[in-house]
Formats: sequence, structure tokens, C-alpha cells
Amino acid sequence: METKFAFEPWTITERGFQPENLRENESVFALANGLIGMRGNLEEASASGADTIQGTFINGIFDSEPIVYGEAAYGYAKNHETICNVMDAKGLVLTVNGESLDLGRSKVEGHTRILDLRRGTLHRSFLWKTAGGAVLEVEMERIVSLTRQHLAAMKIRVYCISGSANVQAVSQIRPARIAAGDPNDPRNAGGKDRSLKTGNRRADGNCLSMQQFTKNSGQVICCAVNHVCENGQADACLAGDGLSWTMQCLLSAGSCLDLEKSIAYTAGKADEAAQLMAMAEEECQQAPSYTVLAAEQREYLDTFWESAGMSIEGDDALLQGLRFNLFHILQSAGRDGLRSVCAKGLSGEGYEGHYFWDTEAYILPVILHTQPEIARKLLEYRYSILPAARARARELGHEKGALYPWRTIDGQECSAYFPAGTAQYHIDGDIAHAVAEYYFSTQDLNFMADCGAEMLEETARFFYDLGFYSREKDGRFVINCVTGPDEYNVLVNNNTYTNRIAAETFINAAKFMRLLEEKRPEEYQRLCERIGYEEQEAADWEKAAELMYYPPKKDGICLQDDDFLNRKPWPLETIPAEKRPLLMHYHGLTIYRHMICKQADLILAMVQFGDSYTEEEKKQNFHFYDRVTTHDSSLSMAIFSILASEIGETEKAYDYFMSSARLDLDDMQGNSKDGLHLANMAGTWNCIVRGFGGMRFEEDTISFHPVCPAQWKGYSFRVIFRGRTIEVKVTPEGASYELICGEPVEILADGERRRLG
Ligand code: BGC
Repeated sequence: METKFAFEPWTITERGFQPENLRENESVFALANGLIGMRGNLEEASASGADTIQGTFINGIFDSEPIVYGEAAYGYAKNHETICNVMDAKGLVLTVNGESLDLGRSKVEGHTRILDLRRGTLHRSFLWKTAGGAVLEVEMERIVSLTRQHLAAMKIRVYCISGSANVQAVSQIRPARIAAGDPNDPRNAGGKDRSLKTGNRRADGNCLSMQQFTKNSGQVICCAVNHVCENGQADACLAGDGLSWTMQCLLSAGSCLDLEKSIAYTAGKADEAAQLMAMAEEECQQAPSYTVLAAEQREYLDTFWESAGMSIEGDDALLQGLRFNLFHILQSAGRDGLRSVCAKGLSGEGYEGHYFWDTEAYILPVILHTQPEIARKLLEYRYSILPAARARARELGHEKGALYPWRTIDGQECSAYFPAGTAQYHIDGDIAHAVAEYYFSTQDLNFMADCGAEMLEETARFFYDLGFYSREKDGRFVINCVTGPDEYNVLVNNNTYTNRIAAETFINAAKFMRLLEEKRPEEYQRLCERIGYEEQEAADWEKAAELMYYPPKKDGICLQDDDFLNRKPWPLETIPAEKRPLLMHYHGLTIYRHMICKQADLILAMVQFGDSYTEEEKKQNFHFYDRVTTHDSSLSMAIFSILASEIGETEKAYDYFMSSARLDLDDMQGNSKDGLHLANMAGTWNCIVRGFGGMRFEEDTISFHPVCPAQWKGYSFRVIFRGRTIEVKVTPEGASYELICGEPVEILADGERRRLG
């Protein structure tokens, strides 16, 4: 396997300056905490001869502008929402005896950057032999605090080994941004004016602070930076559109410059700008030292790895990929109930910082079994946009229920292309599924009473209104003109996955309304009044679930939708590599009329609703869909890997897992520069836990059916389930289960009941 990073268990190390990889490594080295995201840009921002994509993001902070359609029509999404690339405070420009550090020109040796997955830091070091003769050892480290949402920090040390160095260190808040993104690539929607308006700026002693306002969305971002340095006097001032703090000192051999930067970001509604600015200033001035923050970070991550620990014996490359993926998932998830997980995390502008079904279908299971409190927050975010989802359903002509947007930040539908956007109604079911799984795994009835039951009920109402009992289909409940997860087959009738998840939504909505009635009668009563719920609705949903239509099998093939087999064959081997991904080289109409898939769809239905299919059906269909799927979406391979494990095709499962585990570390899709593929990253956890480990929810408990790929000596993983941490260890000889913490619990191991603890 070709790889640019050595296989190390807990670190990702870039050795030597690699100008050709700078942009994708900026994504790999991104640090975030669910609110603040900083790309792994060089402190001096640029290097001669290397392309860079500068980026600092605040999850959920976006600007909007009207979508301009050549031919607009009723109900189209109205506005773009695009995550803002906000003022950059991680910069530090070093100049020694008049020479500014530039990796493209300066004489630098041993340049190394290390992302440390246990410390949560990005560390950089190098030796600089300046033109003037001074030799300096430079170290820089940064942190985006996982324990303090508004804080990030940096530590810089410049040590003079020989000669004398007149050092100038300029720390800046830079508002300017270099536009990223290819306007012709629908995945990153470049070419838009994303500039922000500068508000108040203050330079006061060692503290710089500044506001930026979005142009149309009524939001403000505030940033404040405090500097601590004992090497001498500094000068803070307004500089161009931004601000700078300049420290000048003379270093002789054996002396050094030590500097710490505390960086605070706050953001919110524009009319709260003054308070938010004061908050940012206070936060950075009262920030603990870098050492304290780093110790907190380490402690937080120790606890995380304690509950999310995984190991693979005999495959360092995969283990590194897995841990790297988990680290980025943890970093990217919103934690305050007001934001979710962007498709690219907080590592780039790809997909404009939008939230998709990626969160509920891929990422949430990982968070649910490693950080259940954060899982609740992600679902609370969906509850916070329920009013917008109700309004959208009305706009589309549905009298009842709520339709969640296919892609959004603040709840409005932002998908300008409805066939592969709004028509993916399955998103309602994905959210409902996540709510039910959350309850199953946590038994958090408060959540169900506060938000969960209402979300289930509103999504069930929507599906009930969307479908109908069709005479053509013997009176069964059909759902027509939808797009399933596979975006290469759009506006189809009876997408199997959609119908199955709609049926599940019906059953769960009825079940949880009854559960609430029994366990929390007063809250149930209040909910019924608020939403005008009548008991008959549950009976209606249950009947629709029972009579749900699924396209019948033809020659053993379970159809992805009514007409899947009636499309023109397009053998994958006839499509040259340079024509991939298809969406970049063929018109949609060409793609849609062919029997070809972008991603797992029917296979996902088989993974999610395994009990509805026989082993034989799974096998036959795995091979059929394997032959017609391009995997042009990074969400695809993990799902194929999970089903392959289930049907005993461990080699295939392994191959798919291999292709997804290091997808971003090795830039396998060639677009990691635009940000990391968060759903795929989560997919690799799912490959291990749900695939090789065979974890499922069954008979009111959790069950495992582990297999061990021949390439490994063994592997292990931990999951949190109902307050317990369970460790599963698998070797070619068999599996063992251990309760790491929590009350005794019963599980199903290969079909047998076992009590742990
Ligand atoms: C996939 C979708 C996914 C989106 C964002 C698309 O390429 O087809 O399933 O939600 O990317 O990751």
C-alpha cells in the first residue's frame, strides 16, 4: 500500500516538508472540538511553491445567499448556506535578521509535524539555518481544547543554537481568506463570495480582538487572542484588515523566545455582538496556561480512548487509520444541541459545512457507543430544527408531519438539486431510526419525553402522508417518486430501503407514543395536545407498516426499486478510470437510465433490516450489487464490508475495510484537501464493530457474532451500552467478552445468553 505516513500507533507524522501534499495534509492535521475547527495550516500561512487552503471554521456559523436558478420552480430550496471561513488566529510569522521563514526558500532541516491522537495536539519542529548565520531550533504546538469549547492555544519556542538572532515574531488575526473549491465540483461548491464584514477591532497590550459579521445570515463571530511572553516589550496594532502583535528580541546562543497564545472564539446572533466580543476577550485573558490546557486535553482523551479503545493485532496500518478516524469523529461532533457534524467535519469547506444523513446513519452509532451524552446532543440538534422541518413539509403540500432537509445548517433545505436532494425522504427515517437506537442503547426516557417521541411521531406522520394504498399493488402501501440513498437512481418508485425505514418509523412511532402514555402520562397528555395527536394515528401507522410494499424478487435479485432491473446494463469494467467518479463526467440522465449504483442502498437495507432477508438472499444480492456499484460515494464501501462479514465473505469484507480505513490518510479519493470524509471514517468503526464484531440489537439486548479476518492475529473493541463498557476480544480461536465498568449485564454471544460482571 502506498502511504505517506509511517505506521505508528498513536501519531501521524509528516517527515520533511512536503509541498505537493500540503493541502491534503492540512485536512489530516486539522484540530477541532465540535465548535472551533482549524485546518493544519502552517503558522506562517504560506510557503513558496506550495498550494495551501487556509481555513478556520465555527460549526454552524454560515452565510446565506439566494440560490439563483436558471429555471426556478415552486418549492425549490431558496438559499445556500455556506459555512464561513472565519478570521484566522493561528498565524505567527517569524523573521530573523530580516529573513522571514518560508519553507519554500529558507534553509530548514528536519521539518516534522506530528498529530498526536492521545494528546490532541499538532506539534511542529525544525532547525532553521538562517541566511545571516544564526541557527535556530523552532518548536510550535497547538491545541483546540476539547474541554473548553471556546478555547484554542499555541505554544512557540525559538531556541538559538548558534550565532545571534534578531527575532521578530508577529502574531496576527487575519481576516483575508484565499478562495477554495472548484466551482465545477458539486461536492465543494466553490466560486462563491464568502467574504465577511469586519466589525470592531481592538489592540490592547497583549490582547487582540476582532468581530466579523456575515452578510446575510445575521451572525457574528468574535475572536480574541492573548499573548504571554517574557522576552520583552510587544506592540499591538491594527494591521490592514486585521490586527497584529509584534514582539522583537535579540537571541544569543543558548537563549530562547517563549511565547504562548490563547485564542478564544465566540459566535452567535449579530445583535449579541458586544457581549460575545467581551466574552471572547475574557475567555482568552483568563485562559489557563498551555501546560494546564494540554494536561486537561490529555486527561479527556485518556477517558475517551478508555471507552472507545480498539486494537488490531498484526496490522499497524489499519489500526492507525481506525484511531485517526475515531479521533476526527470525536473532534467534529457538535456538543451543545445546536449543531451537528458537517460532512467534512471541521477540516474543510467541502459540502459547504452541511449536515446530511451522514450524521444519523453513520456517525451517530459511533458516538452512541463511545460518547452517549454527545449522541443525545446531536439528536437535540435535530429536535431544534423540527419547526423548520414541519414548515418544509407544508410547503411541499403535506398537511401533517415534518420533512427534514437533505442538507442544511440551520434547518432550511439547501439542496438546489432536488432529485438527489429533497427527494431523499429516507432522511426522516434515518433520524427516526437514530432516535430509537439511542433509546434502546441508553434507556433515556427523559429524552424520549422531551424530544424523541415527537420526532418519531412527526416523521411517521410525514411518511403516512407521502405514501398511499395502491390498487395497482394489491392495496399495499407504496411510496413513489423518491430517491433512496443511491444517488445514481433518482425519483424511483418503492425504493426498498426507504420503504423499510418508513415501516420501521411507523412501528417505532406507535410504540413510543404508547410507552410515553404508560410511563409519563402527564407529558404524554401535554404532547398530544400540543401536536393534536389522536390514538387512531398509531393504529393507522401500524397498518401501513404491515401492508408496506416491497418490490418482489426477480431471479433471486431483491430489487433496489420497482424498475431497477429495467435499466440499461453498464458493465463497470467498460468505464475507464479517468471517467470516475461518474458524476463528474456524465450527465445525470445518462447515469439514471443505467443499471449502476453510486453507493450501497439495497445492501444497506440488508445490513439494517437483516431479519427481513435470508442468508441466501444476502449472499446472492451482495454479489449482484457488488458488480453494479461504483462506490463513487465514500459512504459505500463500509456497508459492503459489513454485509460481507455477515455472510462469511471475510476476504471481501477485509478488502472493503482496507479501502475505507485509510481513505483520508492516504488520500485515496484525491479530494481530502477539501476536507475529511467523516461518514466513511465512521463507517470503518462500523466495519469493525457491526461487521467483523457482528454487533446488533436483538431481543432487548446487544448481540455479537464475531469473525476474525485471516490477516489478523486478533482484534478488540469496546462499546458503551446502557451505561456499561463492554470489551470484545476476538482471535481466530474465538471471542471473549468482559465488562470493563458498570453493573452486570446480559448479552447474546453467538446466539447464547451470557451474563457479564
Ligand atoms: C453521497 C451522500 C452523502 C453526501 C455527503 C454524497 O456523495 O451520495 O450519501 O450524504 O455525499 O457526504
